[in-house]
Amino acid sequence: MNQDHLTWHTHRLAKAERIQMSGQKPFVLWLTGLSGSGKSTLADALEWRLYAMGLRTYLLDGDNVRHGLSKDLGFTDADRVENIRRIGETAKLMVDAGLIVITAFISPFRADRQMVREMLEPGEFVELYMDVPLEICEQRDPKGLYKKARTGQIKHFTGIDSPYEAPLAPELIATAELSVSEEVDRIVGYLVQHGKIQIGEQRKVLSAV
Ligand code: ADX
Repeated sequence: MNQDHLTWHTHRLAKAERIQMSGQKPFVLWLTGLSGSGKSTLADALEWRLYAMGLRTYLLDGDNVRHGLSKDLGFTDADRVENIRRIGETAKLMVDAGLIVITAFISPFRADRQMVREMLEPGEFVELYMDVPLEICEQRDPKGLYKKARTGQIKHFTGIDSPYEAPLAPELIATAELSVSEEVDRIVGYLVQHGKIQIGEQRKVLSAV
């Protein structure tokens, strides 16, 4: 769409004020991986842990978003690209609002994840790859979708007849080897260590800056 006749308004209340008010730095923790790799489960556990730490979060989850924001989209390559573009823009708005955003989408294409990374400021996009082999995801088959994909009842299923491009240099990797709470510990450790989240006294300092 032509944007020649649109004007960007700069508002007085911006991200900086929201950071100061909330005492947390916003960012996106982007989970990517095959269907059944445990994205939603890990995202849910992570969000609960961050909530318990007093942080303000929002979880955008594939299946849920496809009930609303992306309900007009299917699973062709073009539709997935558009799905991720919408999620990226939504996550960006939420980051502007000062939230820590966790996303759980297959997001199979490297270029689309890179596009979202570039929409945000440096350090605001943390990619977490759910490195769970197709065989395990298929064995788990929590929604019975792999079975349907194998028998041709579902077309364009990721890992079966639609590609998945694993991240080349994700900030974090989760595997099927640790328990969910062990993964959460490890991820929270990473976030603290890299200054993405602050705990206790550190947060008070941030809100006073
Ligand atoms: S994405 O590719 O556009 O990122 P998204 O994460 O939103 O996918 O949706 C994936 C979810 O939709 C899966 O967890 C699964 O429950 C469901 N689904 C239905 N059809 C397909 C399909 N053809 N390929 C992958 N997932 C599908």
